[in-house]
Amino acid sequence: MESDIEQKTDELYKEYYNRKGEERNDLLKNPEVLFQILGYDRAVVSAIASTKLNPKTAKVLDVGCGDGASMLNLVRLGFLPSNLYGIDIIEERITQAKLKISNINWILGNASCLKFDDNFFECVMESTMFLQMTDDELSDKIAKEMIRVTKKHGYILLILLIDWRYSHPFNKEYKGLSKKRITNLFDVGSKTSIFKIYKGALVPPIGRFISRNIPCIYFTLQKLFPFLVGQVVTVLKKS
Ligand SMILES: C[S@@+](CC[C@H](N)C(=O)[O-])C[C@H]1O[C@@H](n2cnc3c(N)ncnc32)[C@H](O)[C@@H]1O
Repeated sequence: MESDIEQKTDELYKEYYNRKGEERNDLLKNPEVLFQILGYDRAVVSAIASTKLNPKTAKVLDVGCGDGASMLNLVRLGFLPSNLYGIDIIEERITQAKLKISNINWILGNASCLKFDDNFFECVMESTMFLQMTDDELSDKIAKEMIRVTKKHGYILLILLIDWRYSHPFNKEYKGLSKKRITNLFDVGSKTSIFKIYKGALVPPIGRFISRNIPCIYFTLQKLFPFLVGQVVTVLKKS
């Protein structure tokens, strides 16, 4: 069962990156990415600031960490690599992450069974993993594990979620992290509550076009036309 999940996930991502091409998300080679990343960064930094986490002591887990890109933000904000943990099910991703920042605790494993004690982390985050996770049972197990390992008590007991909001209208490989899905997965109202929401990048086709061609209007569009925002950072607080 476990190796079945690993194999399926591995195949899904290999196929995705083959189809999209290596340079699609390359900041140095593709100008379509720059403002999408700035939009994402602005929302993530605001979300982390809202938590009042102490960067010198807070332990943070990134679930489905990929090659560790999200952790770079935390290190830049002063979080200590020795307090940061990233888990991913694909070995190649963990190898790439280790090359980026070797002294973060990178773990190869399945996030549906985390080997951490209850209430271990001040903050648990995920970025775009649930979007490509269409298996409801697996999503639910991971969400419950994320809640379990997040600390009880106090205002810093948070879960950061970063994901595209909309499901793709024609493509069944995506399942957006809508408010309804967040509520179901994270038992909002009983085990958690919504603390803050921040707007991130614009929906990909529009955001990529604006980033390449008229970047100066990117954040104006984001402010004036909220329906064009495809990515939000939702901060949940554990009850
Ligand atoms: C879209 S990528 C996002 C990577 C990273 N969070 C980022 O934002 O750059 C989703 C990641 O989730 C990982 N993943 C999928 N299912 C997983 C599971 N059950 N346990 C751990 N990681 C998983 C995949 O291997 C992949 O690297």
